[in-house]
Amino acid sequence: MKAVTIHKYGSADELIYEETENPGLLPDDVLIKVYATSVNPVDWKVRSGNYPGADQRAWPVILGWDVSGTIEHLGKEVTGFQIGDEVYARPNTKRQGTYAEYVAVNYKEIALKPKSIDHIHAAAVPLAGMTAWQGLFDHGKLQAGQKVLIHAAAGGVGIYAVQLAKWKGAYVIGTASESNIDFLKDLGADEVIDYNNEDFEERLGNIDLVLDLIGGDVQLKSLEVLKPGGIFVSTLAIKDEAAIAAKGLTGGRFMTQSNPEDLRKMAQLIDEGKLKPIIYDIVDLKDAAEAQRTIEEGHVRGKIVLKVVDDN
Ligand SMILES: NC(=O)c1ccc[n+]([C@@H]2O[C@H](COP(=O)([O-])OP(=O)(O)OC[C@H]3O[C@@H](n4cnc5c(N)ncnc54)[C@H](OP(=O)(O)O)[C@@H]3O)[C@@H](O)[C@H]2O)c1
Repeated sequence: MKAVTIHKYGSADELIYEETENPGLLPDDVLIKVYATSVNPVDWKVRSGNYPGADQRAWPVILGWDVSGTIEHLGKEVTGFQIGDEVYARPNTKRQGTYAEYVAVNYKEIALKPKSIDHIHAAAVPLAGMTAWQGLFDHGKLQAGQKVLIHAAAGGVGIYAVQLAKWKGAYVIGTASESNIDFLKDLGADEVIDYNNEDFEERLGNIDLVLDLIGGDVQLKSLEVLKPGGIFVSTLAIKDEAAIAAKGLTGGRFMTQSNPEDLRKMAQLIDEGKLKPIIYDIVDLKDAAEAQRTIEEGHVRGKIVLKVVDDN
């Protein structure tokens, strides 16, 4: 099969579109014909070698942790799925990834893809959508009527977090640059703070939950705007663990887990028209390097998708 691999850590120049072995199938795997995958910041972090422990795969490594496609083969212990099912997933991060024509995925990590959208849009959902879901609801315990501050609200995770928090009935505040203010209000944000022109910690207070997707000093400033007993959750390394407890807050860093139940709930919301992926760009799989260079700049609105098969 064709795949995009790296033979060593380094810049996006290390990404090679080449012929590789088809993935081997374990008894509880399905073989998915990949129609589309998406690009996440973790892809370039792993590629660059600055993500210790993230990569335990054999070289050459196939990156990519999102897939939408069809089931081509079933391992003998797989139940509940048929050949031909259209599914989506964020596969196990310790195995070869999804920048490829085929990927083997444990059947307990997949869900039927939303029916109302194509593979290109479905591939933009799993990793970023589950991160938003788990950050807001599992770790953040967000309830209707609460105030949530979402940093990097226009990015891959942020677009889902804004919509899901609004769906839950929260008051949603996002940070973004000026060019994304109207976009985020259309998506459901009640307030958007332009981080280049205003300090969010000056405007805000009494916040119930902060979802931090930026890290660094933004974290420390975020602790100032939370109310006593508030929750601070981040997808990034915590700059000052002790400061969270010292301020009477809870929370911390979380790592997104593959949970097909989350995928099923999001598929339902998508099919009901309550949640939508936002696609910034669609790039052919062979041009994955170009897509990674773009996301590495840190200003993508929504998601970049890698097209593997024409889905017309
Ligand atoms: N722990 C985990 O399991 C996990 C899971 C998923 C993601 N992550 C991490 O979470 C982070 C966010 O992921 P992502 O996919 O959402 O990234 P992304 O799509 O690359 O985020 C891009 C967005 O960040 C915004 N942004 C940049 N600087 C900002 C600032 N100072 N303040 C507010 N917004 C800013 C940009 O908005 P403007 O263009 O308006 O500046 C852009 O829309 C990444 O570091 C990723 O690696 C971790």
